[in-house]
This record gives sequence, C-alpha cells and structure tokens, in this order.
Amino acid sequence: MHPEAASVAASKRARPARYAWRAPVTLLRDIGADNPAEHDRTEPKMSEDDETRLGLSADETRLGLAADETRLGLSADEVLQTTRAVRKRLNFDRPVPESVLRECVEIAVQAPTGSNMQGWHFVFVTERDKIEAISALYKQGFDAYRNSPVYAGRVGSGLGAQREAQQARVTSSAEFLSENMHRSPVLFLPCITGRTDDARMMVGQAGSIIPAAWSFMLAARERGLGTCWTTLHLGYEREAAEILGIPYDNVRQYALSPVAYTVGTDFKLATRTDLDSVMSWNSWSR
Ligand SMILES: Cc1cc2nc3c(=O)[nH]c(=O)nc-3n(C[C@H](O)[C@H](O)[C@H](O)COP(=O)(O)O)c2cc1C
Repeated sequence: MHPEAASVAASKRARPARYAWRAPVTLLRDIGADNPAEHDRTEPKMSEDDETRLGLSADETRLGLAADETRLGLSADEVLQTTRAVRKRLNFDRPVPESVLRECVEIAVQAPTGSNMQGWHFVFVTERDKIEAISALYKQGFDAYRNSPVYAGRVGSGLGAQREAQQARVTSSAEFLSENMHRSPVLFLPCITGRTDDARMMVGQAGSIIPAAWSFMLAARERGLGTCWTTLHLGYEREAAEILGIPYDNVRQYALSPVAYTVGTDFKLATRTDLDSVMSWNSWSR
C-alpha cells in the first residue's frame, strides 16, 4: 500500500464510527459539495475550516474523500469476510454518487490481467428505462432458473437442516432481487473485450475480469455499498448488449450486479463448508 494511503487507512481504522455518518445536506450545500464539479480530485475546493466541520483531515480531503462519501473503516480481512450477496438490504432510495463508483473502479483496475491486457470494461447503468429493461431480462432468466435442477432451493435438499435453512434464505433473497432489481439506483456489468469460444482463452478472460469485478465489489462494501454477483441475464446477453450499445461480437459480459447503499452496514460472516473438505496437501484428497 502507498505510505500515504496506509496512514489514512490506519487513521480511519482508529475512528471507524466517524465514517458511518453523512454530512447534513445544508452543510454540504454550504461548501458546494452537492455540485458534481466540486468533486475534482486535483484541486480540493474545501477550506481547512470546512474540513474540520466535516470531520475530514487535510490528508483525507487531498486524497479525494468527498463529504457525501461513506467510509466504514473496515480492515482488509473484514471487507473480505463480510462482502455478502446483498439483496433485501439494498437501499433503493439513496442515490449513489458517480464519484464513488469511479473510486471503486480506480481500485478494481489494480487487479491482475493475463499478459497485462487490461481488456476490461465496466458498464454502469443509471438511466431508469435501461435499468428496467436489463432487470426485465434478468427476471426472464430467473424465471427459467426457478424451474431448473440447480435452483438454490433445490440444491440444498438432503444436505442437512442447517444447509437447507441457509439455501431457503438464499432462495427467498434471490426471489426478492428478481422482483426488485429494477428499483436499483445503479446496475453494474463487468465486461471484457475479445469474445471467443476457445476454452483456454475463455479461462484467461474470466481470470482477467472476475478479480477486477470482485475488487470493485469489495471497494464498494468499504464505502457502504451493497452488490450481488448475478449471471442469469446472460441467457439474454445479446439483448442486453443491444440495450446498452455493447459491441456483442467483441465484448463479453460476465455478470450483472445491483449497486446501492445498504440498509445498515453490519454484515456477518457466512457459514461455509468445513475447511478440510476443500483443501488438499500434495495430492488430491477429496
Ligand atoms: C457465478 C455466480 C453466479 C451467481 N448468480 C446469481 C444470480 O443469478 N442471482 C442471485 O441472486 N445470486 C447469484 N449469485 C450469488 C450467490 O447466490 C451468492 O454468492 C451465494 O449465495 C453466497 O452468498 P453470501 O456470500 O452472501 O453468503 C451468484 C454468485 C456467483 C459466484
């Protein structure tokens, strides 16, 4: 980590509570922070006095933490362990500033890519009619999935009471998202250039977009945003490409996620399968 960023991160960890609040609208207006032009990273517009009133240090202002951005001050491990598939706790009513999305992409593009190709592209949908059209494709995909053998509600059966209960929660949550995705303030589609059917190339491409997309989601979590990796619209990838002007023949979409502030910011560790059952040492031991 860059030493400056490390010291700011450390100071945030020491004072996590401060980052969960939002500055009152009047105060933001006073300093012009509700004007997108004021989010310029190179020339902070806030005076030292404004920084003090907002509880931002000079360093935080210089590094571009705008007043309307939430930071949770989570440790790296906490971010990794609590970035859940958020569906029922998406706050559909709170707008997501473009500056926050840009900041998450800035972090995402530090992820690795095969041959350092950097062929990624991150599509954000914020126009209501397009959000509704993409969500309708997702719902169509979900309706087909509901009748399939891999439906979350079906794969848990016979795995014990705890796993069945977990799968039932996932199913209820997934049904909710299918019905409500169109209410999201933002949809996010990570894409990569170079459509191919060659299996080896596809693995390389997946490995060059999925880490970045997941980094985006982790960065979003640290900023109070919830996401949910979904793939069911991909049965209608061409239709989605047409709606969004994505050049289908050369660009593959990998996922679709809502992006919204979460209702509350406390997310817990999920129950996962036993570690020993997913690890081998020196020879495959399953
Ligand atoms: C490849 C992949 C595809 C997924 N597709 C969907 C989907 O279409 N719809 C959905 O609601 N969740 C989808 N999920 C989210 C999973 O259901 C979720 O990651 C899983 O239940 C674990 O959630 P948790 O981390 O909150 O415990 C997908 C996840 C992955 C990794």
